[in-house]
Amino acid sequence: MTAATGAPARHAIPGPPAHPLLGNLREARRDPLAFYPAARRDYGDIVRFRSLGPLRWYLFSHPDDIDYVLRRNARNYHKGIFAASIVPLVGEGLLTSEGEVWRRQRRLEQPAFHRQRLAALAADMTAAAVATAEGWGEPARVGRPLDVAAEMSRLTLQIVGRALLGTDTSGAAATVAGALPATLEYTMYRAESVFPLPLRLPTPRNRRFLRARAALDRLVYGIIAERRRTGADGDDLLSMLLAARDAETGEAMTDRQLRDEVLTILLAGHETTAVALSWTWFLLSQHPEAEATLHAELARVLGGRAPTAADVPRLPYTRQVIEEAMRLYPPVWATGRQALGDDEVRGYRLPAGSPVVLSPWVTHRHPDFWERPDAFEPERFAPGRAAGRPHLAYFPFGGGQRQCIGNGFALLEAQLIVATLAQRYRLRPVPGHPIEPEPTVTLRPRHGLPMTLHERSAA
Ligand code: HEM
Repeated sequence: MTAATGAPARHAIPGPPAHPLLGNLREARRDPLAFYPAARRDYGDIVRFRSLGPLRWYLFSHPDDIDYVLRRNARNYHKGIFAASIVPLVGEGLLTSEGEVWRRQRRLEQPAFHRQRLAALAADMTAAAVATAEGWGEPARVGRPLDVAAEMSRLTLQIVGRALLGTDTSGAAATVAGALPATLEYTMYRAESVFPLPLRLPTPRNRRFLRARAALDRLVYGIIAERRRTGADGDDLLSMLLAARDAETGEAMTDRQLRDEVLTILLAGHETTAVALSWTWFLLSQHPEAEATLHAELARVLGGRAPTAADVPRLPYTRQVIEEAMRLYPPVWATGRQALGDDEVRGYRLPAGSPVVLSPWVTHRHPDFWERPDAFEPERFAPGRAAGRPHLAYFPFGGGQRQCIGNGFALLEAQLIVATLAQRYRLRPVPGHPIEPEPTVTLRPRHGLPMTLHERSAA
């Protein structure tokens, strides 16, 4: 199968010069957020990099080629090594499994994310946001800055716990926040290493990771045991997982499978949304005109009351602000696929086993598809403005059959949170504090995001 044809297949894919032993690994690791965009700019929409010895990896930046890998020829691409780095943490859950196992689990979990089901969860989402707004009253009054990145993590963790797992995770926020840095660090190490050291070696990094994973395991097994003990039969995702029976064997999921699915939902379901919200607050603070437009929409539609699911379609600018924040700072800044068999893309030959990086960070700022790519302009997502823009020029949630299952959940949640908190507060970064994205599995603010909170009524 051939994607759009270009150069003849016998031509080598262009790419930067490489160190004879280490290839391009060092530069890619040192500063991937600069390395990959520069490679696209200098070598084009398909770039080849050298790893150790004969190993190669590739970057595809054109929306048509991303569509080719994720949709049109998805059968020839699996997650492969890109999932392998996350497996030590989340095991074989929905994010990392492949083939029949993945298909069965996706079918099983999908109903928990249906539109009507989400609408029913909106009240819980707003209630959690209102509680956060209340809690911010005191720091706002005394002028004490809060780490808004940590606040957003706590809030989104609480929401995913309550809405999907029927569990109050407010007591677990510290456990998760404490475990995340070591797990993200280790996952990134696995992703970047050609020969990672086995986990049984007691290196400081391995030990930090195993301690953090054990803490998350205790939490997740605790959630499962508690639900089994109370026998509560809700209609949330955890109930669906517990009630699932294999169509052939009639067997329930093992504890290990349950743990993998629950941990996947717990982590994938909160960290990404928290990152999206953190950058949204930061960008609003830097663009007072966009902030004023947002405030005007909230005043017109809500007039100070808490938002409901029914309000959400009438808050288009709120949504545009979040979409534009995820364009500039995509929470999952890169994903990837590995070719199963030989392929040909734009006339280039791509050997079986080739890893292909697909990076929203790169494509979302691609000047062929975005005017003033580095500017924050929520109006680009206004209805009608996307005409002519290729579908996967924007893919914060991935694409094709492995597209994010929590896409609608996350957008609803983010809109309700922004609508609730922005009605009450204006957030401003602490002057002098460095703000920069850190490319681990997600794109968190590297040094946190301390901000001061200003009551709008008092402004
Ligand atoms: C702004 C928030 C979010 C962003 C940016 C995001 C991003 C993504 C991306 C890019 C993928 C595809 C990865 C790939 O193709 O390699 C993905 C998959 C996934 N996401 Fe999200 N996500 C978000 C929120 C959520 C939420 C709220 C949940 C659950 C409640 C969730 C659960 C998952 C799961 C389970 C998968 C794997 C789906 C599959 O392979 O079938 N995500 N997400």
